[in-house]
Amino acid sequence: MAGLTRPGAGDCHVWWAPVRPSVASMVQLLDDQERTRLARMSRPADRNRFSTAHCLLRILAARYLQESAEHLVIVRSCGQCGGPHGKPRVRARHGRALEVSLSHTADRVVVAVGDAATGVDIERVRPLKNLDRIAAATLSAAETRQLYRVPAAERAETLLAHWTRKEAVLKSVGCGLVVAPRDLVVSGPGEPPQVVMWPEEVPRGPIRLRMLSSPLGAGYVGAAALAGSGDIALWERDGAEIMEQL
Ligand SMILES: CC(C)(COP(=O)(O)OP(=O)(O)OC[C@H]1O[C@@H](n2cnc3c(N)ncnc32)[C@H](O)[C@@H]1OP(=O)(O)O)[C@@H](O)C(=O)NCCC(=O)NCCS
Repeated sequence: MAGLTRPGAGDCHVWWAPVRPSVASMVQLLDDQERTRLARMSRPADRNRFSTAHCLLRILAARYLQESAEHLVIVRSCGQCGGPHGKPRVRARHGRALEVSLSHTADRVVVAVGDAATGVDIERVRPLKNLDRIAAATLSAAETRQLYRVPAAERAETLLAHWTRKEAVLKSVGCGLVVAPRDLVVSGPGEPPQVVMWPEEVPRGPIRLRMLSSPLGAGYVGAAALAGSGDIALWERDGAEIMEQL
């Protein structure tokens, strides 16, 4: 399989793919820990999302590192309980590594690959029945004021966009929702995406944030974060063809 050129300084490659049925050739590509997690999922939709995302991650990592998929180790070690879940870290032979992040929602998955610590998050745009409750749990006071200035019909998408900005940042630093999302303040709709205020417990550093454009069609919002300062070049691609090889 042809290799891929690794992201250069300030580059973040984001690969989108539609969720596929979890067929035997996909399950075979997973490692033991991933298969154990898959076996615990009872709903086909969850199994399909999980298999698609983790196979896409493995195939891409193999191509970026020009290594066979069997020689790659994807390590996940939860910062809270030490269990085999959390931020994925790709290791290949001779100490080579790749900075990655993944997200799945509805019938889409994304994998981000950066030259530095990266985080990606996507959400399907949908009506939120509990919008007020979700806003209260996730937004700071300033973000909440911004949300309610937006026309009611646009609030769900605005809230989801806010949410993906926060999750992308929290995933890039590897802590996920252990941190209360309302303590990480991000810029609002219509403003360049950026972190406005960090929670005290998060190791802060310069970070670049960009919204995704969902090249596989409308109806999704997403954001990617990349550690470092300066410009970020976001490069979004359709990964469906890569998955068709399975
Ligand atoms: C990371 C998190 C925000 C993602 O939530 P989500 O929107 O439901 O799911 P997404 O599809 O966008 O992302 C899931 C992926 O994020 C990655 N991820 C999980 N935890 C992560 C972390 N701490 N940092 C970075 N990435 C993480 C994984 O690749 C995960 O995929 P997988 O579950 O298939 O392995 C959420 O799952 C979380 O915060 N988890 C950590 C909470 C925690 O540590 N609890 C203690 C457990 S003992």
